[in-house]
Amino acid sequence: MAYSRYGLHYGFTLVLLVLHPVFGDVSYSIPEEMKRGSVIGNIAKDLGLDLGRLSARKARIDTEDNNVQYCGLNLNTGDLIVQERIDREGLCARKASCVLKQELVLENPLELHRISINVLDINDNSPQFKEDSLKIEIRESAVIGARFLLDEAHDGDINENTVQGYSLQQNDHFKLNIKTKGNGRKYGELVLDKELDREDKKEIMLLLTAFDGGSPQRSGTVVIHVTVLDANDNVPVFSQSVYKASLPENSPLDTLVITVSATDADEGINGEITYGFDHVSDENQVFSLNAKTGDVNVAGSIDYEKQSSYEMQISAKDGLGLASYATLTIEITDINDNAPVISLKSLTKQIPENVSPGTEVGIINVQDRDSDNNRQVRCSIQQNVPFKLVPSIKNYYSLVTTGQLDRELVSDYNITISATDEGSPPLSSSKTVQLSVADINDNPPVFEEQSYSAYVSENNKPGSTLCSVTARDPDWRQNGTVIYSLLPGEVNGAPVSSYLSVNGDTGVIHAVRSFDYEQFRSFKVQVMARDNGSPPLSSNVTVSVFISDVNDNSPQILYPAPEGNSFMTELVPKAAHGGSLVSKVIAVDADSGQNAWLSYHIVKSTDPGLFTIGLHSGEIRTQRDISESDSMKQNLIVSVKDNGQPSLSATCSMYLLISDNLAEVPELKDISYDDKNSKLTSYLIIALVSVSTFFLTFIIIILGVRFCRRRKPRLLFDGAVAIPSAYLPPNYADVDGTGTLRSTYKYDAYLTTGSRTSDFKFVSSYNDNTLPADQTLRKSPSDFAEVFGDCSGSLEVGIHFELLNSFLACFFTLSMVLNSIQS
Ligand SMILES: *[C@@H]1O[C@H](CO)[C@@H](O)[C@H](O)[C@H]1NC(C)=O
Ligand SMILES: *[C@@H]1O[C@H](CO)[C@@H](O)[C@H](O)[C@H]1NC(C)=O
Ligand SMILES: *[C@@H]1O[C@H](CO)[C@@H](O)[C@H](O)[C@H]1NC(C)=O
Repeated sequence: MAYSRYGLHYGFTLVLLVLHPVFGDVSYSIPEEMKRGSVIGNIAKDLGLDLGRLSARKARIDTEDNNVQYCGLNLNTGDLIVQERIDREGLCARKASCVLKQELVLENPLELHRISINVLDINDNSPQFKEDSLKIEIRESAVIGARFLLDEAHDGDINENTVQGYSLQQNDHFKLNIKTKGNGRKYGELVLDKELDREDKKEIMLLLTAFDGGSPQRSGTVVIHVTVLDANDNVPVFSQSVYKASLPENSPLDTLVITVSATDADEGINGEITYGFDHVSDENQVFSLNAKTGDVNVAGSIDYEKQSSYEMQISAKDGLGLASYATLTIEITDINDNAPVISLKSLTKQIPENVSPGTEVGIINVQDRDSDNNRQVRCSIQQNVPFKLVPSIKNYYSLVTTGQLDRELVSDYNITISATDEGSPPLSSSKTVQLSVADINDNPPVFEEQSYSAYVSENNKPGSTLCSVTARDPDWRQNGTVIYSLLPGEVNGAPVSSYLSVNGDTGVIHAVRSFDYEQFRSFKVQVMARDNGSPPLSSNVTVSVFISDVNDNSPQILYPAPEGNSFMTELVPKAAHGGSLVSKVIAVDADSGQNAWLSYHIVKSTDPGLFTIGLHSGEIRTQRDISESDSMKQNLIVSVKDNGQPSLSATCSMYLLISDNLAEVPELKDISYDDKNSKLTSYLIIALVSVSTFFLTFIIIILGVRFCRRRKPRLLFDGAVAIPSAYLPPNYADVDGTGTLRSTYKYDAYLTTGSRTSDFKFVSSYNDNTLPADQTLRKSPSDFAEVFGDCSGSLEVGIHFELLNSFLACFFTLSMVLNSIQS
């Protein structure tokens, strides 16, 4: 305590003023906190006591109740002095008057004097706050004028020396309002003078000073710590009012698209932001917004083709529901995820094969759901087919033929159209279009062979199959159905249909009747194959029918006349030598070839050793000289056989008379002649004369021709004559290795060597192959020259020669007949 310096000074002044010497009692006023030893007053004087006797009387100061002895007595001077510190606040606290009671005790005689010391206050205490600092929390939303009670400051002193007032440090927001309580004590209130803003300043320090009225004045301070409490006075604020993001389509789930963010200046729950979509819509199904972080993620399938952009309202709310809004726009970028789609808009299913190139047969449309380059589509046909795509309006293409179609070559097309977009990587798709080519009757039936030949033996059964023709027509159904028919025509003056018929469906050709080789040997017919189209197409083919000979004719004996009709007798001169020609059997066969190759045999004779017959010539010759012993009448039975299989034969009897004179034969004279015979004889004579005349004429003509053409010798018979010099085996002609007997068609007859009859013929077109080589008689021209002398002539001459032969035979026969009749 720093009052001791003043204490003495005050003390003296007060002693002088308040000293009222009262007998018995004495009182003094002193300021508190005087120094020990300070003189309060001279009590001896004030009480009128004898100084000298004080010590003798054992003068002393006592306290009333043995309390602290604050005062002492100086026995020498009689001064009452301060012995202990006197603190008014300690003795009397806040009592307005503080009196310290002491007693002076004297003995001899006992005397008691009461001393009252009135202790006066000095300003020795400063105002003091309970705490060093004062904490106040004020919500920022507090209104102006709001009051906040402050702690009171205490001061141990009283009256003037106690707290007289407060002062507040200069600040922006608060004023101080000082109030006095009923007991006069003062306290302060903070009054809000200007609104607080936590976000601006959330802590405010104020210094509050309390001061007393003492002199010198004392003060005490306290720091007021104002905490501004948050009020939800701030709206969350988005960093952008519009968020834009772009996202490729087909992004996988949970792909982060964008992060939105908003800030709220408030704190705590007031600043806690929750993000969300403003309202529920379909789009929110596709994206999710993390309420805490503001991350926008993919939550559904993103398909550009379904929706190419999304616009959403998003909100940010703080804990107490203040919200603000922003727009989130997500643009979806296209990915080439759609292949082009080819659709067939129209198609001619059946294209006639005769359409001209460039005909449109179908329309195709191509779509790609992607956009930009991803939807640029190119369309093409890769295969090698006679079709192309011609771009038409927009995404349409025409399918057009590029060449001639041929159903018979390709009847169906599977056209694969492929479409590729220009995305990267490009996508493509393809579609197969089936087209078929419809038939047009553009192919005529075509025979498999250029011509057909049928070989049939004569005497065939009517209805037998000769051959079959086949024609093919590659067209479709009725356009390719072939119908066969005979073309009208004549064979030997009769309609072909009386010979042949053809099965319209199968092309099998049947004989209608039996053929006779002896009537005709071959004929040709035309067969037509026609399809069933409209108009029909047709083609013709020649069918040659060759009839082959069958041994169906027996040899016919011309001379001698067949038995029964007449009997003929040959005269054989008695002088005939061996080997002389006696007679000749003349026979013909209507067949040809081997079937007409005759051989002669004597089957029975009167004298078997006398006569022989030429196997092929039929010439009867004497085998030896006739002798007298030989019977005059000789009988021969001659059989003529052809070489057919089986062979047919005829027989005849020949009567030979060995005589030089018919008259020698008496039996013959008996032969009677009737009128008929004489008439016949005259006919025969006429015939013989005409034939002879004719013959002579003929000889003259021949000679004439010979002289005319002497310089031009020429082969008569095409160079080849078949003259069998020996017996030929029946299969003589089977030489071409196929087993087919063809020879009969190739040559007509044999020349019978040495025959005087018509039994030989000439071959006009002879095929070497038809005879075994060693038996082929390729006669040199000179051989024939021998036969005909120098006479070589034309074919014409050959024919005449043949005629000549006939006449010779005829002449011979006639002369024989005449001869026999005459005899
Ligand atoms: C076309 O396709 C069909 C069905 O796939 C098939 O039966 C036919 O043989 C094909 N035609 C051609 C010419 O490839
Ligand atoms: C036959 O050809 C004609 C045209 O020549 C055509 O009209 C018809 O359809 C064809 N028939 C068939 C069965 O294809
Ligand atoms: C076939 O012959 C008939 C009758 O002679 C004729 O009308 C037709 O044109 C011929 N066809 C052909 C393809 O020659």
